[in-house]
Amino acid sequence: MKVKVEIGNIVNYNCDAIVNAANSRLMAGGGVCGAIFRAAGYEELSKECMSIGWCNTGEAVITRGYNLKAKYIIHTVGPIYNGNESSKYLKSAYYNTLRLADEYNLKSIAIPSISTGIYGYPKNQASKIAIEEVVNFKATSLEEIILVCFDNETYDLYMEELNGRY
Ligand code: AR6
Repeated sequence: MKVKVEIGNIVNYNCDAIVNAANSRLMAGGGVCGAIFRAAGYEELSKECMSIGWCNTGEAVITRGYNLKAKYIIHTVGPIYNGNESSKYLKSAYYNTLRLADEYNLKSIAIPSISTGIYGYPKNQASKIAIEEVVNFKATSLEEIILVCFDNETYDLYMEELNGRY
C-alpha cells in the first residue's frame, strides 16, 4: 500500500473514492464538503445523504460519486475540536473511512485533512493522527492512499510526520 501526500483540490481526484469531511446530518456545508456537493451535484447527492440520514462523529458512510470522477464518496464526521477528548474521534474517523473503503474493495482513495478547517482541530496534532492511522492501517484491497492538502502548512506537517517514520 502506497501513501502519497499532495497539494490539490480533492474534487478533481480520479480515485475509487474521495473522502468528505462531513457533518452528522450529512448536509452540504462549507469547506471541502461544500466543494464536494457542488462538484458531485447538489440535488442527487443530498437525496442519497438524506436517505442515510445521520452519521455519528468518528464514523463513516458511503454514497455514489455522481458527477465526480471518483465512483464513491466516503463521508466521515471528524470531531469539533474540544481538547484531548477529540483525538479518539479523529482516529476513528480515519480508521472507519479506511475500513469502509476496504469493505467495498476499493483500490485508491483521496482523503482531506479531516476536522482541521471549520471544526478547528490544530493542524499539527491532526497531521500526526492522520499519518499514524493511514500508515498503520492493514489494508486488503487498498493499494493507494492519497492525503490531499489544501495548504502548504498541512503538506509540510504531513511530510515531516511521514519522513520521521522511515
Ligand atoms: N480539497 C482539499 N482540501 C480542502 C478543500 C478542497 N477542495 N477545501 C477545504 N479543504 P473543512 P472540517 C481543507 O472545514 O474542519 C463543513 O461545513 C481545509 O483547508 O472542510 O472537518 C462540513 O459540512 C482543511 O484543511 O472540514 C462540516 O460541518 C480541511 O480541508 C464541517 O465543515 C478540512 O476543512 C467540517 O469541518
